[in-house]
Amino acid sequence: MTHPWWKTSVVYQIYPRSFMDSNGDGMGDLDGIISKLDYLALLGIDVIWLSPVFQSPMDDNGYDISDYDDIAPQFGTLADMDRLIAEAEVRGIKIIMDLVVNHSSDEHPWFESARQSKDSPYRDFYIWRDAQPDGSLPSDIRSYFGGPAWSFNPATNDYYFHQFSTKQPDLNWENPAVPEAVYSMMNRWLDRGIAGFRMDVIDLIGKDVDNKVLANGPTLHAHLKAMHQATLKGRDALTVGETWSVTPQTAKLYSAPERQELSMVFQFEHIELTFDPVHGKWKPREFDLVALKQVFAKWQTELADNAWNSLFWNNHDLPRAVSKYGDDGPYRVASAKALATVLHGMQGTPYVYQGEEIGMTNVAFKAIGDYQDIETRNLFAERLAQGESPDELMKAIHKNSRDNARTPMQWDAGDNAGFSAGKPWLQVNPNYPDINVAASLKDLDSVFYHYQGLIQLRKTNRTLIDGHFTLLLADHPQVFAYVRETNEETLLVVGNLSTHSLNVPLPETLSLESAQLLVCSGTSRSQLTSTLELAPYDAFIASLT
Ligand code: GLC
Repeated sequence: MTHPWWKTSVVYQIYPRSFMDSNGDGMGDLDGIISKLDYLALLGIDVIWLSPVFQSPMDDNGYDISDYDDIAPQFGTLADMDRLIAEAEVRGIKIIMDLVVNHSSDEHPWFESARQSKDSPYRDFYIWRDAQPDGSLPSDIRSYFGGPAWSFNPATNDYYFHQFSTKQPDLNWENPAVPEAVYSMMNRWLDRGIAGFRMDVIDLIGKDVDNKVLANGPTLHAHLKAMHQATLKGRDALTVGETWSVTPQTAKLYSAPERQELSMVFQFEHIELTFDPVHGKWKPREFDLVALKQVFAKWQTELADNAWNSLFWNNHDLPRAVSKYGDDGPYRVASAKALATVLHGMQGTPYVYQGEEIGMTNVAFKAIGDYQDIETRNLFAERLAQGESPDELMKAIHKNSRDNARTPMQWDAGDNAGFSAGKPWLQVNPNYPDINVAASLKDLDSVFYHYQGLIQLRKTNRTLIDGHFTLLLADHPQVFAYVRETNEETLLVVGNLSTHSLNVPLPETLSLESAQLLVCSGTSRSQLTSTLELAPYDAFIASLT
């Protein structure tokens, strides 16, 4: 079976401001990324997803774009971007960029014009409503970053709609001029040599604001089909939609190949398992492995035939996997490897977020003032005003703030973790003297080399790409185990996701006699027995045929 290249690829996400600073201004940049391409090639990844590097007032660290066709000076120039694309290509690495088109910045010339007058030619690029007759807001829709989703615009005496910050006005996709402008911008970037897009909150375009249908709205798929025709058709690109609202059923609408929309979407059901059903991420819950396995098994099964999964624990919005699902204390290394093993053994395209490959952890800054993330700061202020306890809020922030993922990449044990010669825009995690790339590269048992092994295996083992998934030991509270099967081969993937030593009986149907260990962490073993002895966070992938 031949596959599109993105089914056999591993993607590495770079959050540019936190990756590598080449000029000492405290913020990562494109030259910094270029200087680390050899490192990424050593890791073995095939694709870089670059979080936004476009011109932006940086209210939301670049997810608020004021010029889609130019690079923010903090990050470099268009010439630097061209060099990054070329230098990555030399190493066999493709680049996908972030497409942030549910909203623009309020400093985009479209909005600057639109907000000045009702006669602006760009007025209809955004979503405007009058106050209700009693003077109240057009509706009670809230913004994800706290406060109402409507902000008053004095010059036109009405309100504009924004699902994120007040500086991120939602674009009006129902005005044909908006998709047209977006599609031609996408084509300009694709022509420049990028290999596709990660599409920011793409399930929020196509909404019906008046009926409060925001995610998965009535015109969403029509827009994605039109986008495909106008930009992606014939290009062989990787496209991945960020879709918090998706279910296995709706995921197929995006990614079934004959529908010609996207390659795949990110679903967040495994992430949301640790959120409170009412208060969300600001009242975190402990994770329950049995529920987590059910979620993964459901997605593996439902998308097996005519769609495609993306596989991830981490991104720039989420806490560090090893802190959330593993153990960031004594079992940090073992648990980071176990989490990687059970994720990379599944069907789909794996995404590695910068620092995950060395087991970077959450951070716990003492003062709210040390946090830079707009969501964290706004929500803290809003909930404090509502009477919530600051201590409880800080605890939730330590667990789930987006800045957990955004502390600078830890390159070595030198000043500022080798990230910058200047003062980093966000403090480095104080554990950098122990956890850093230089130390990982020197240690053959490091998390890094485990990731390298898993990534390598995906390039050579077709069962990892094609094999049918069956969950084993579904009710076991500590072990994540499954098989992947094709007509030629059965792979057994096992991870002890606990701090306990366990004896686990394997199903008798598995033939273990000629088992060959392909990837192994923790206990080194040459053969498998029908009752597995698993040390804390032991994990392996074995070929049984
Ligand atoms: C997505 C991004 C997040 C951003 C938001 C608004 O969820 O991943 O970082 O704040 O969209 O663009």
